[in-house]
Amino acid sequence: MKETHLSGKKSEPMLKERSDALYKGPYKAPNRAYMKAMGLSDSDLSRPMIGVGVAWSEAGPCNLHTMGLGRKAKEGVYYNKGTPRMFATPLVIDGVAMGYEGMKYSLVSREIIANTVEMTINAHAYDAFVGISGCDKTTPAMLMAAGRLNIPSIILYGGTNMNGYLNGKEITMEDVFEAVGQFAGNKLSAEELKELEDNAIPGIGTCAGLFTANTMGTMAETLGMALPGSSAPPAVEGIKYDYAYESGKAIMALLENGILPRDIMTYGAFENAITALMSMGGSTNVVMHLIAIAHENGIKLTLDDFDRIGSKVPEIANMRPGGTHTMEDLFRVGGVPLVLKKLLKSKLLDGNVLTVTGKTMAENIASMKIPEMKNDVISEVSKPYHVRGGIRILRGSLAPEGAVIKVAAAKITKLRGPAVVFDSEEEAFNGVTNGRVKPGDIVVIRFEGPKGGPGMREMLSVTAAIIGKDLGEKVAMVTDGRFSGATRGLMIGHVSPEAYVGGPLAFVKNGDYISIDCDRGTLELEVDKKEMDSRRRGWRQPEPKHKSGLLAQYAMLVSSASEGAVLNP
Ligand code: FES
Repeated sequence: MKETHLSGKKSEPMLKERSDALYKGPYKAPNRAYMKAMGLSDSDLSRPMIGVGVAWSEAGPCNLHTMGLGRKAKEGVYYNKGTPRMFATPLVIDGVAMGYEGMKYSLVSREIIANTVEMTINAHAYDAFVGISGCDKTTPAMLMAAGRLNIPSIILYGGTNMNGYLNGKEITMEDVFEAVGQFAGNKLSAEELKELEDNAIPGIGTCAGLFTANTMGTMAETLGMALPGSSAPPAVEGIKYDYAYESGKAIMALLENGILPRDIMTYGAFENAITALMSMGGSTNVVMHLIAIAHENGIKLTLDDFDRIGSKVPEIANMRPGGTHTMEDLFRVGGVPLVLKKLLKSKLLDGNVLTVTGKTMAENIASMKIPEMKNDVISEVSKPYHVRGGIRILRGSLAPEGAVIKVAAAKITKLRGPAVVFDSEEEAFNGVTNGRVKPGDIVVIRFEGPKGGPGMREMLSVTAAIIGKDLGEKVAMVTDGRFSGATRGLMIGHVSPEAYVGGPLAFVKNGDYISIDCDRGTLELEVDKKEMDSRRRGWRQPEPKHKSGLLAQYAMLVSSASEGAVLNP
């Protein structure tokens, strides 16, 4: 613990160190005049200025309600002697952009959101940051911004949508994506597809399973950056607004006590986050996001950390897409604190890490009333659903720098078969729906990596089409792109180095044999060195797909997926 941050309260001027530079003294009269035009008084301007950053958009249901949460957080700030200033960040709704060129902007949006927060907070000299997130990239982006700015910060995850129901059966968006494949294979009528479309999402909030958004909400809480218990409540639950108010209150205490994100997001906190991720079998995207968030906190996290921790942690969650339950179901049985309590009891977590309450994780959990009802959502650590963590890192001649698979959502863990190669998501979708892919094949989709895509699209449309065609347990996929958290099957993503920079994936030919063994952690291309050397000779990097604009800028700066796909100036 740094003495300056945690040894007692700071004096009043220190609380406003940043904002005083912009709003105090006679020379700053013009700056104050702009504030007074919005109704702020001298008394308001004498208080710390708190930036409340809200990822908001009408592009989808995930973040439709976040302004309301932001307004409640403002009340928490104001009634605890701060002056809140709310601002919006843009975002991409992944599920809406899925299967389309626009999905290339999804991972890009993580950096845009982090940059927007940095820009707004620094340009207007705010003293602290409250981030309200929702859809997939918004939570990692706000955690990245918090680490980068390293001013007192707190995150509130906006929350999941409720379960959808059709004919008494619980459904989620995953069912709709997979139904498209069934429809293409004449196994589902247009009327049945429409019924699923009409009923899958009953209202606001993020996708219901333990997909990327809900996994990232869980990570924010496990990292100690969100209030305990705040992540699992669905978007429509009134308690979410209590957490918003409390987050506004908590940021003032963090400011007063000088507790900074880098005091909270330590290496130990990231080890805890990886443990929780493995124990729940969350989204593969989170591997990359945690590496990127750690990077912004000055911490080097590698795929080896995930390997090491994953081998020791059992999977205790029965949640979609691998299992049967949703985030709403987890909330009903105790939420994220229930998971942390079980992992703490088994000494799998370090309970001494600091959190936004100013207390340790162990102290937080000990002070909470967590129901201990019998349920089939979270098992005992001694009786897990799987003995190993839900995400596995694979390496081998096809992925020398690593690749990622969610074994929690795969029924088969080994396959050796001939490659069927596609150079884009669209080609692969057509190939699957037109019957080019046969049982036993390994579908290769390349030039979809961070630089080559650019933007590393999620292959959910293709994986869902594979499941819909009843090939889910008969084929595998290997790609330098990503997967949605809703993807299931033997689907291996984040293959590094990516094809566009000359990774081995670029040299795979139709019919080459690929062997996958998740138990051994291997991904091998069965082509000898002499043949590979000859294929490499004379290889020229393809022309960039985008030569101007945001995607071209992104492609120039982005690092490998194995390094978190962060932007390196
Ligand atoms: Fe936003 Fe799924 S589309 S969480």
